[in-house]
Amino acid sequence: MQPITTELLRWYDNHHRILPWRITPHDRKSGMVADPYGIWLSEIMLQQTTVEAVKPYFLKFTHKWPSVRALAAASQDDVMRAWAGLGYYSRARNLKKCADIVVANFDGHFPDDLVELKSLPGVGDYTAAAIASIAFDIPAAVVDGNVERVITRLYAFGTPLPAAKPEIRRLMQALTPNERPGDFAQAMMDLGATICTPKRPACVICPLNDNCEALKTTDPELFPVKAPKKGKPVRFGAAFVAISSEDEVYLRGREQTGLLGGMTEVPTTAWTSRVDGETSVEAAPFHANWTPCGAIVHVFTHFELRLAIYKADNVRKQNNLDGWWIQVEKLENEALPTVMKKAIAAAIPDAFEKRRKEE
Ligand code: ADE
Repeated sequence: MQPITTELLRWYDNHHRILPWRITPHDRKSGMVADPYGIWLSEIMLQQTTVEAVKPYFLKFTHKWPSVRALAAASQDDVMRAWAGLGYYSRARNLKKCADIVVANFDGHFPDDLVELKSLPGVGDYTAAAIASIAFDIPAAVVDGNVERVITRLYAFGTPLPAAKPEIRRLMQALTPNERPGDFAQAMMDLGATICTPKRPACVICPLNDNCEALKTTDPELFPVKAPKKGKPVRFGAAFVAISSEDEVYLRGREQTGLLGGMTEVPTTAWTSRVDGETSVEAAPFHANWTPCGAIVHVFTHFELRLAIYKADNVRKQNNLDGWWIQVEKLENEALPTVMKKAIAAAIPDAFEKRRKEE
């Protein structure tokens, strides 16, 4: 089990939310199993609706219709009436259709197989994985918006959504344990809902703060990187912050003409509309132990620039370079445009803080 998984499960054991459809880790350990009907019902309700709004509806439904057979026996009108107020009514129509199919084709038992689950009305990738892992302990990668946020922060993954989705899924799959995959998925959801929130995440109390690349290298709030603003083209590139053993940063001058002409920069690749070898670590200006430390977004008048930031420590100073090395404390005096300051701050978080100068 990866350290992130172990830490998160340990946190979940003590801090999980109590939800009416959930069995606690303690219950699970004493042999209780989740009811697939309740898990399915809650997951359908939770699509596009908050936990707080879902709670009373879930209790009403399970009281009225305690099993999928009971729900299948109900009339469509009764189901719609009970759903009223929850919104997105196609979910209610699919709910009834799905209950009918589970009774007719699966003898009233939800299938414990991802592909079969996904064949049911209203059950997509996310819901199938949630039911499989929570109800059947199948180690499926459960990826919703919360999980996307947590994962992109943990790995400081700067590719914008939705292009980032396949890699996020792969990272989530790699973290998902064979033991307690359902608790793990729910722990990710709880972490995303209560600590790793979109705005002002509570990193000081986060159980994964030692494992979080975004927290270590830049600002977790920068992740996930949003889809580009409509109309503005996006260019990608990488920037390289080389630091010598004497705490100096390598800088160079930009061409006199063109964007930011004559200003100072850390080395960057070309800024292009394609993400390829030209804009990645392979295009570093010189050999060093480059490690990724997040991404920055900067909006120019005519395009939006997304730079992946790489940093290398203890870089040996070479004399064949045409730039110069400058103490981190003195960076403030250089002609660094904002985009370059952002790039350096991603690699050296306190580079431009007063504190550093007053030390
Ligand atoms: N959001 C969607 N599914 C959830 C679950 N099972 N627990 C908590 N929040 C959720």
